Amino acid sequence: MTDNMTADFGYSDGDVATNLTANPSLNEIIERRYSRRGALRSGASAAAMAVFGGSVLAACDDRDRLGPIDTPPVVTVGSSGAASAGNRVTITGTATDNLQVDSTSFTQVSGPPVTLATAGLTTSFTAPAVSAATPVVIRFTAVDNRGATSSADTTVTINPPVLSFSAVAKNRLDVVTVPAGYAVSVLYRLGDPISGTTPAYRNDGTDTDFANRAGDHHDALYWFGLSAAGNARDDASSTRGLLVMNHENITQVYLHAAGPTTVAGARPEAEARKEMEAHGVSVVEVTRAGANGAWSYVQAGALNRRITPMTPMTMHGPVRGSALLGTAFSPAGTDGRGTINNCANGYTPWGTSLTCEENWSGYFRRPAAVDDVRRTAKEITGLNRYGVRSTTGNYGWATVTPADATSTIYRRWDAQATGASATADFRNEPNQYGWVVEMDPYDATRAPRKRTALGRMNHEGAWPGNFVAGRRPAFYMGDDAVNEYLFKFVSNTPWVAADATATDRLAIGDKYLDAGTLYVAKMNPDGSGSWVALVFGQNGLTSTATLYPFADQADVLTHCRLAADIVGATRMDRPEWTAVNPATGEMYLTLTNNSTRTNANTDPANPRSYQDPPSASFGNRNGHIFRLRETGDTTEATTFRWDIYAFGAGSDLDPANINLSGLTADNDFSSPDGLWFGRPTNVSGQATPVLWIQTDDGAFTDVTNCMMLAAIPGVTGDGAARTVTNRNAAGTTTTQATIVGKNPGTTIKRFLVGPIDCEVTGVDSTPDGRTLFVNIQHPGDDGSITKLRSNWPASQSAAAPGNRPRSATVVITRTDGGVVGL
Ligand code: FEO
Ligand code: CA
Ligand code: CA
Repeated sequence: MTDNMTADFGYSDGDVATNLTANPSLNEIIERRYSRRGALRSGASAAAMAVFGGSVLAACDDRDRLGPIDTPPVVTVGSSGAASAGNRVTITGTATDNLQVDSTSFTQVSGPPVTLATAGLTTSFTAPAVSAATPVVIRFTAVDNRGATSSADTTVTINPPVLSFSAVAKNRLDVVTVPAGYAVSVLYRLGDPISGTTPAYRNDGTDTDFANRAGDHHDALYWFGLSAAGNARDDASSTRGLLVMNHENITQVYLHAAGPTTVAGARPEAEARKEMEAHGVSVVEVTRAGANGAWSYVQAGALNRRITPMTPMTMHGPVRGSALLGTAFSPAGTDGRGTINNCANGYTPWGTSLTCEENWSGYFRRPAAVDDVRRTAKEITGLNRYGVRSTTGNYGWATVTPADATSTIYRRWDAQATGASATADFRNEPNQYGWVVEMDPYDATRAPRKRTALGRMNHEGAWPGNFVAGRRPAFYMGDDAVNEYLFKFVSNTPWVAADATATDRLAIGDKYLDAGTLYVAKMNPDGSGSWVALVFGQNGLTSTATLYPFADQADVLTHCRLAADIVGATRMDRPEWTAVNPATGEMYLTLTNNSTRTNANTDPANPRSYQDPPSASFGNRNGHIFRLRETGDTTEATTFRWDIYAFGAGSDLDPANINLSGLTADNDFSSPDGLWFGRPTNVSGQATPVLWIQTDDGAFTDVTNCMMLAAIPGVTGDGAARTVTNRNAAGTTTTQATIVGKNPGTTIKRFLVGPIDCEVTGVDSTPDGRTLFVNIQHPGDDGSITKLRSNWPASQSAAAPGNRPRSATVVITRTDGGVVGL
């Protein structure tokens, strides 16, 4: 029996009994009465401690006569004292005992609940989200081998979240730059094989079979958690999951050995097939090696899947079966093939992904000069309003003569009315695109569904408002072209929380996404606004409308731009992503820029037209971020309040009329596009959530590559009315009143700068917020095979001359394991 033994847990800081006089002690009396030979394991000694006070000493020299005399362990506990939300707090205890410490533990005494990760004498937790300084009390307890216990408490003050990283400087390097204290790695690149039998990517233009490889131009992405076994949905997983991501477009030159070719006016089938397959969507499994290990994608993941422009789709909602969708492939207008130019995205709480068809019209060949004579005036109005008038179609796919003469997968890109009827050709094929497409990432056997109730446009994304049981859910959608609109779809069906875990997920999609009301936004000068319903027979949307005589609701949805024109919706500066604040329900919308906004046609919600040297052009050169709060904070609202959260601008531009948000060198940006709030499953999406802003820019690229910023925004209406003076090239000035949010100051910070020529787009995190996934699109796309401008991602770790650039997903983590951004 060793006296006054130090526990094998380690070190004592000296708070150990040393008064070893022979005087019988209280504790000896207690021991004799209650604890002879260790029969008592109930903590009676601790109770005695509580009654008689803390300095209880053993009379060791009585040991032979009385047997071993126990004293409770002596403990200390300490912490860093304070932390802001999202940061890891580490607490260390010490325990010594006259005999032996058997066990120690940490428990939470008070404060907002935290999850303790304990290893020996140390515990740690992530500081929870709070909106004001809040104490969290943690108790350290030691138990000795007689069952005697002692405890000590420590208080950690939790402060509201702040962007604690140091801003990344603007740069034009050929790497992804992240703040000090963060790590970045490349996860999933153009061409990476996603089946066990597909060979590695050579990246020299000779690779084939893109239906089993990562596509090009990585865009929006979303994490869907998988169970530990990898075969089932698990929304809580932060270490194994599926990334669902869009492949919006291609950098054609790098996909072929010597660039694209055309032979006798026709594209070779093999090249066209590769280009088509490099579009679409990836579902790819990714895993982390342990709680803090490295990330990798799983080449042979059981749920890996490519969706391409050839993948079977079904049409759903009010336009299904309409004559507007009838083609030679699907005369009934119920089925389609594939999806194209998938840009931003959305998700549903029932575990499906929404992918959105953006710049689809350019893929169709329809030389208006020869095809218009075959069309009705109404058809021409519709085709022109959506821009279906290319003389060649992107990449010339319609020129392919396939080896299989019965195949129409290339011919369908020719939208001319050359057949005897609409179902004898592909004149209606353009009506099959421009939709929001729902897919089930957990079931690769099921065809995605095009949800026509959400309207047809250049769909950037479709982000859900916060779901509330009993309330009809909404999805917010930007139509990305200059002077287009902001839309909202409100389901007819109030949300039933149990539907979140239904097994037939696409059937739940049918329930909520096939019937509802499509609205378009109208902003008033006083900061109020309204959602105008686009319903056949209402608001002038009738068969006698002068601009476009609608036949029915299918016609309204297929031509919802024309419907929005008629109701007088507000023409916006290229509506890109929408994002919804998980704490407040407020919706944010990026308006990336508008080269056609002049000082003569600004409005309160799109208030700037100016020059940003060295460009000689005028317009909204740097874009802005609009936001709104629904009346009554409900997705069902038909009115709202709005303001402009932040204006893009170089920090050197006129603070009175251009740099209206007072951006500095640490946060100046241009052309906001991607937009996403942290998930509410971690502190970056709670209380005062973090907003991530990504840029797709051509105006600020003389100074810096595109970037991603983090922000902690306030609320709609936290700023003030302002009047700006705009001017045109002739020097004529006009004034425009607007409503500007509170100057963001240091609550916006540059977090990442991408490689040369890229767009930074697509962002999501694991549910724990400790891993961020970001997509880098089209690095080096201004170069050529003989003059590569970028070698990224090969250049991320070392100079890599000769490597063709590739779009890719990167993984960003904090080296201390904390929540990214905070
Ligand atoms: Fe595909 Fe509007 O960006
Ligand atoms: Ca003891
Ligand atoms: Ca985009």
